Amino acid sequence: LREHEEFTKVKNIATIELGRYEIETWYFSPFPPEYNDSLNLYFCEFCLTFMKRKEQLQRHMKKCDLKHPPGDEIYRSGTLSMFEVDGKKNKVYGQNLCYLAKLFLDHKTLYYDVDLFLFYVLCECDDRGCHMVGYFSKEKHSEESYNLACILTLPPYQRKGYGKFLIAFSYELSKKEGKVGTPERPLSDLGLLSYRGYWTRVLLDILKKHKGNISIKELSDMTAIRAEDILATLQALELIQYRKGQHVICADPKVLDRHLKAAGRGGLEVDVSKLIWTPYK
Ligand code: ACO
Ligand code: ZN
Repeated sequence: LREHEEFTKVKNIATIELGRYEIETWYFSPFPPEYNDSLNLYFCEFCLTFMKRKEQLQRHMKKCDLKHPPGDEIYRSGTLSMFEVDGKKNKVYGQNLCYLAKLFLDHKTLYYDVDLFLFYVLCECDDRGCHMVGYFSKEKHSEESYNLACILTLPPYQRKGYGKFLIAFSYELSKKEGKVGTPERPLSDLGLLSYRGYWTRVLLDILKKHKGNISIKELSDMTAIRAEDILATLQALELIQYRKGQHVICADPKVLDRHLKAAGRGGLEVDVSKLIWTPYK
């Protein structure tokens, strides 16, 4: 999905069925023309094939043998699993995921070249299979050091900490690559809120524990958060002073505590010891 200069098109699909949920959509998504007359679409929750009628989906479910996203399971902790799907090896899955995601993402345009992306699909698993709760995409090679292209938590799963988990996961991948990263712009309102929350919590936690001076460069090396994003976050918290031509972090413990309280719940943690992954080559 790519930035988009046109006006948002009128919403076409009103609801989708996915797993045990019926979900109201938010935005237009450019499904192929043969779906133009459908208000509802039925998705196979595992391979993401979409159909116009419920009976088609029921027939499909009898013969679809996937019980989780295609690709490699790279993380498992309790009932949470993350699958890495290569858009080149699973082109149709990647395209279906983009059609689905666009229903909830504004200001992005479908980018058909899914070959160039990896998709990280987060699932809650039980004895019926692994059920997608959200995902993020990532370019295999980003010139702008983007470590995340699009992020989505499906509406029934929102506000439970999965978004923060996905963001944290994207930075854990960047740490393993030894690179700093930043999300692709523009961010949606909800995207910006989630990122600001993540950056704030990560940086305040370090500042609180750290003794003595620390530079933005050091914070960036520790967290894989790009220096500009660190500066903007600390500036918004009024923790930056400009002295003798230099940005200086002023971390008064009382001020940090006050901000940390306001930053709210930490949410689901990524247990790095359960991540088995090597960077894409
Ligand atoms: N109202 C107010 N604050 C919110 C809301 C909301 N509806 N949703 C999230 N937030 C803020 C809160 O600060 C929340 O932290 P808190 O619950 O501790 O207060 C924080 O964001 C993150 O909450 P999570 O539960 O971790 O995030 P969630 O699983 O809901 O996912 C996401 C966040 C991915 C942005 C989700 O809202 C979503 O999928 N939105 C639609 C798609 C989208 O806009 N994606 C980002 C586009 S930008 C890009 O792709 C680079
Ligand atoms: Zn299927």
